[in-house]
Amino acid sequence: MSDPEETQLEARLAEQEAFEPPEEFVEQANVSDPSIYEEFEENWPECWEAAAELLDWESDYDEVLNDDDEPFYEWFTNGELNASANCLDRHLDDRGDETAIQWEGELGETREFTYAELHREVNEFAAALRDLGVEEDDVVTMYMPMIPELPIAMLACARIGAPHSVVFAGFSADALATRMNSAESEYLVTCDGYYRRGDALDHLSKANEGLGGVDHDTSTVVVDRLGDELEHELTDDQHDYDDLVTEHVGAEVEPVTRDAEDMLFLMYTSGTTGKPKGVKHTTAGYLSYAAWTSHAVLDVKPDDTYWCAADIGWITGHSYIVYGPLALGTTSVMYEGTPDYPDKDRLWDIVESYDVNQLYTAPTAIRAFMKWGSQYPEQHDLSSLRLLGTVGEPINPKAWKWYYKHIGNESCPIVDTWWQTETGGMMITTLPGIGTMKPGSAGPPLPGIDARVVDESGDEVAPGEAGYVTVNKPWPGMLRTLYKNDERFINEYWQEYSDPDADDWVYFPEDGAKIDDDGYITILGRVDDVINVSGHRLGTMEIESAVVGVEGVAEAAAVGGDHEMKGEAVYTYVILEDGYEEGEEMAQSIIEGVEEAIGPIARPEKVIFTPELPKTRSGKIMRRLLEDIANGEELGNTSTLRNPEVVEDIAKKVRGD
Ligand code: WTA
Repeated sequence: MSDPEETQLEARLAEQEAFEPPEEFVEQANVSDPSIYEEFEENWPECWEAAAELLDWESDYDEVLNDDDEPFYEWFTNGELNASANCLDRHLDDRGDETAIQWEGELGETREFTYAELHREVNEFAAALRDLGVEEDDVVTMYMPMIPELPIAMLACARIGAPHSVVFAGFSADALATRMNSAESEYLVTCDGYYRRGDALDHLSKANEGLGGVDHDTSTVVVDRLGDELEHELTDDQHDYDDLVTEHVGAEVEPVTRDAEDMLFLMYTSGTTGKPKGVKHTTAGYLSYAAWTSHAVLDVKPDDTYWCAADIGWITGHSYIVYGPLALGTTSVMYEGTPDYPDKDRLWDIVESYDVNQLYTAPTAIRAFMKWGSQYPEQHDLSSLRLLGTVGEPINPKAWKWYYKHIGNESCPIVDTWWQTETGGMMITTLPGIGTMKPGSAGPPLPGIDARVVDESGDEVAPGEAGYVTVNKPWPGMLRTLYKNDERFINEYWQEYSDPDADDWVYFPEDGAKIDDDGYITILGRVDDVINVSGHRLGTMEIESAVVGVEGVAEAAAVGGDHEMKGEAVYTYVILEDGYEEGEEMAQSIIEGVEEAIGPIARPEKVIFTPELPKTRSGKIMRRLLEDIANGEELGNTSTLRNPEVVEDIAKKVRGD
C-alpha cells in the first residue's frame, strides 16, 4: 500500500494549478525584480542593451535597432565583436582553469576542458581550418554526434568568421547532401562513428554517402571517435582531425573582427514545403540573446554546472549548450548517449556526479522518465539542482508535476520555454525568480518580447479562446533571413499578419495558442504542415516526398497523430501503383525509404494503404481529417469532400477493424 502522506501529496499536486517560485531561489536569482517587464516595455528597444552588455565588444554599436528596411531588421548596428572571443578569450584571466565543457561519453568515459584548454584546442583547429582553405564567410558543415569536437569546430569557425551549418547526426546522407548543396558548403567536419546503447555506430559511411550527393568539390575533416573499434579509411580530400591539430599545436589565431550583423551560423529546419529552410543567425543579435536568456531564464552563473540535455544538432544545443552558457563563462555539461543506457537512471547519475545546478530537457524525455518510474531518480542525490527547464513541445500538467516533484523535489522552479529555431532563443516563459508557474502553460512573453495570441485577422483573442501566436516587435535573436532567399523569408514568416503599407510588420511562428486572464500563453502546437516528433520538427512534405520516392508508391499523405511518448508520431496514408501489393513488405520498404531520406526520427509509426485520399473538390488533401482519423476522433462533416466514402474505409483500417 502506498504511504498516505505520499498519496495526499500526490492529490494536492494534482489539483494545484499554480506554483510560486521557491523563496530560496528568488533570493539568489539573476533576475527577481518584477519591474523588469515595465522597464523593458517603456524603454524599448534600448532595453536590449541589457543583452549587449553581457558581451565584450571590439567597437561599440551606433544604434540598438535599425528598422529602415523592415522586416530586414539590424541589431546593434556597426558594433564589432567575435563570438569565439566572447565564449573563450575573455574568460581566460579569471576563469581559465575552470571547466568550460564537462563531457561524458556513453560508455562512461569523461573529458573535461577548462576554458584555457578549450581556447587552445579551438585555436589549433581554427588554424587547421584556415590551412585547409577556409576563409571568412565560407560555410563549414558539421555532421557530428555529441562529442567535444563539435563545439570546438563551431567555435573555431566563429573565430575565423566562417559560418557553421550543423546537420543533426541522426539525419540521413540525403539530408546532409541537400543541406551542403543548398549552402554551397565546401567543407565538412564529421567523425568515424559513435556509441549508441553500447554499440559502435558507423557514421563515416553515411557521411561519405552524403558527400556522394554533393554537387561540388569538398574537403572533409574526420574525427576519430572510435579508435580501433571501427577501422576507416580516408580518401585524398579527407583529413584526420588529430593529425591536423597536431600539425598546428600551439597555434594562435587572432579572432576575426565581425560586424554585429555578420552571419554566425546557418541552421536548417523544416517548414511547410519540402525544402528545408536555412535559418540565418547573426553574431551580435543571436549571441547577446542566447546569453541574456541563459542569464535571465536559466539563471546561469559562472560558478554553476549547467546541463542542457539536448543535441547540439538542434537549435536548443546551439543556444543553450554552446553559445549561451559559454558566453557566460559557466560549466556546460555534454552527454553523448541515450538516457536509458546502461540503465534508466543515467541522467540522474550524471546530475549527481557533477552536481548539476540546472537541467534543461524536453517533455518527451520527461514522459519517458515518468513511465520508467520515480525509483530511478530516487537512487540519486539530486539536491544540487536549483532550476529545471523544458523546451520543444507542449508539456502536459501531469508530466510537469512529475518533473517538479520527483526531479525538483518541489524546490526548483520550472521554466517551460517556448521558442523556435528562427527565434534564436526563448520567447515565452515565466522568469524563474518572478513568475507564478502554471503547469502546462509556458507563461507570459519575456520582457521586451511583444508576443500575442490573435485571431485570423490579427486581433487579439479573448482569454480562453484559441488563436495564433504572433510576435509584433522584433527582438535581437531573430533570424535575419533564409539563406540566400529573402523572398521565402518574407513569404514564410511575414506575409500572414503584416501590413507593409502601414509599416506594420508582424512575425508569424505558425503555432496555435490560448491566453488566460493573466496573460499566460498556452501553446497548442503547430498550425502548419509540420509534425513535432519528440520535439523534432519534421515537414509533412519532406516525409511525403520520401514515401513517394519508394518504388510502387503513387501518392502519399503524412500527418501527425497523438502519441503518448513522442507527443506526435508520423502516420502515412499511401496509395500504391497498380501491380504492387499492400502488406507488411511494402510497409517495411516505405519505412526504410523514409529513414533513408530523412533519418530514423521520421520513421512512420503506421503505414495505412488506401485506394484514395480524402480530397476537397479543388483536389487538396484533407490533412485535418487524416489527423482526426489517426487520433481516433469523431469525424466531422465530410460532405464537402469530393470522395466522402473513402473516409470511413480509412478510419476502419486505422482502427484495425
Ligand atoms: C514547439 C525548438 C510548446 C513549437 C526550440 C515551435 C513548443 C517548435 C515549446 C519549434 C514549448 C517549442 N511549448 N511548444 N515550450 N517549445 N515548441 O524550431 O511548435 O525545433 O514552433 O525549436 O517547437 O521547434 P524548433
